[in-house]
Amino acid sequence: MATETVTIQKVTLADADVLLALSKKTFFHFFAHLNKPEDMEAYAAVAFTPQKIQSELSNPNSHFFFAMLDDEIAGYLKLNYGAAQTELQDPEAVEIERIYVLAEHHGKKIGHQFIDFTLKEATTKNLQYVWLGVWEHNKKALAFYKKHGFELFSSHEFVLGSDKQTDLLMKKAILSSSKPKAFLLY
Ligand SMILES: CC(C)(COP(=O)(O)OP(=O)(O)OC[C@H]1O[C@@H](n2cnc3c(N)ncnc32)[C@H](O)[C@@H]1OP(=O)(O)O)[C@@H](O)C(=O)NCCC(=O)NCCS
Repeated sequence: MATETVTIQKVTLADADVLLALSKKTFFHFFAHLNKPEDMEAYAAVAFTPQKIQSELSNPNSHFFFAMLDDEIAGYLKLNYGAAQTELQDPEAVEIERIYVLAEHHGKKIGHQFIDFTLKEATTKNLQYVWLGVWEHNKKALAFYKKHGFELFSSHEFVLGSDKQTDLLMKKAILSSSKPKAFLLY
């Protein structure tokens, strides 16, 4: 399948309403049929409020990005650095906390471009690795991450409403050969 021309655009506080609507829409679209409605609602009532989204957007260690196909938003990415990481809080790492592509745009390599973008960001910031948590039953995402070279290294509990789920933790090292070489100054 051909790679679409996608622009990756930083999300700002001015986009909070759009991001909130997109976050809720994608979360329910991909996970409602696999979970109890009350668990979905309980999680969304905490995670997807205007206040929560605004505070995440205002955190200098959390960066959101939209994937734009012309003027249309096709997906979003949330990266966490430093103390904003949901676990590990390793200053040498970046966490992909959320990566969503709208269903009608799946298979167009937009997810692939989000991963490439994250690896470039990590390389520019001289980090050691990228990591993420993925629900053990999210087979498509698991296959997608494996294909992009992520490896399992641990697991943690993720509570959705009253449901204790297992997230698998995966990481990918940043190759030292892709890191910028230091310049010698005379
Ligand atoms: C995981 C996800 C981000 C991948 O995004 P994507 O843009 O579809 O990914 P890509 O197009 O780069 O690659 C997906 C792979 O699945 C295949 N694929 C996925 N959906 C497809 C579709 N509808 N039609 C054809 N192929 C499809 C692609 O061909 C590709 O495989 P290939 O590289 O062997 O050709 C996306 O599926 C998604 O948003 N999932 C729901 C949310 C989610 O689970 N997020 C992760 C939470 S941890």
